[in-house]
Amino acid sequence: MERYSKLRAVLADLKPYVAGKGIEEISRRYGIPPERIVKLGSNENPYGPSPEVKKAIAQAPLNLYPETDSLIRSIASYTGFHEDQVLVGSGMDGVIDTLSRLFLESGVRSLIPTPTFSFYEIVTILCGAEPLFVKRSHGLSHLREHLSDEKLGMVFICSPNNPTGEVMGEDEIRSIVESTDAIVFLDEAYVEFAERSMIDLVNEYDNLVVGRTMSKAFGLAGIRLGYAIAPSWIAEEYRKAAPPFFGLTTTSVAAGIAALSDVEYMLRSVDLIKAERERMLSEIVEASPSWGNFLYIETAERSDVITERMLRRGVIVRDCRSFRDAGDHHIRVTVGTPEQNVRFLEAYRELCL
Ligand SMILES: Cc1ncc(COP(=O)(O)O)c(C=O)c1O
Repeated sequence: MERYSKLRAVLADLKPYVAGKGIEEISRRYGIPPERIVKLGSNENPYGPSPEVKKAIAQAPLNLYPETDSLIRSIASYTGFHEDQVLVGSGMDGVIDTLSRLFLESGVRSLIPTPTFSFYEIVTILCGAEPLFVKRSHGLSHLREHLSDEKLGMVFICSPNNPTGEVMGEDEIRSIVESTDAIVFLDEAYVEFAERSMIDLVNEYDNLVVGRTMSKAFGLAGIRLGYAIAPSWIAEEYRKAAPPFFGLTTTSVAAGIAALSDVEYMLRSVDLIKAERERMLSEIVEASPSWGNFLYIETAERSDVITERMLRRGVIVRDCRSFRDAGDHHIRVTVGTPEQNVRFLEAYRELCL
């Protein structure tokens, strides 16, 4: 088609983001009733959000555009930062999308330690910039080689890292931030399941942004609400590049405020998930230690074969082949409720041991 020539050339380098499989799709494909399917492929929280969220959503005015001030105040109070430093977006995906447009363009590079969340690569390419990949297994020294690259615009660090589950220590993060002029985006999507956050470091550096989400610990993946804490100068520019209303809705604003008013609920579900994570870790020697709500498991057989067999049993896990540099022998499983985890463990023992 003639109009193909109108497309930006970078699209040739892109593939659609690969998400975990959905219940509807697996039910249709394998003829399994939806209620028999356990969805452990997308790192969602099986306990969902605080009951306060449902009440708040029911009252959200659907005919009005959203007002974001009270949500930003709630996030500021939860994180201990000034409102001027809070960025919001439609999921952390939305925040990353807007932020990357501030710093990445043709001729600029982003540094991405792999395997990791694949959206960093997608936004880099969409901005016309070039992703530089460094394998996490090669250690920090490899990363450091690129930090002084004049063309470097952003560094994406995910901690706890999706899909491997490991965290980066404070010294390592400080050393990365201090060794580069680029903007370091520290993705803390899973931080509530870890021991500690590095968010306070934003007070000390003018090139560090910490991303967070309401999708994981707060159980609001379906609402699409994310945020970041940034130095004020970046926050100011972010507001110029963000879509109207930051891509939020009256329901996402109401849900966010309600969830943040009941942090106790979130902490209880996090405790349950952490206890289950440790129980599963003690049963699966092939799993790496994890500080997220998921386990990264090495499989003797190819991960696509294992994943497919699990799907046939109605257990959705993530085949990690879609993560650059994860290889062909890893699956990622979300820590679910005890009942869901039993279903996974039964399938795992049957197929992998
Ligand atoms: C590391 C990481 N960052 C960001 C996101 C996106 O989060 P959100 O649902 O807020 O867009 C995810 C989602 O799985 C993730 O794993």
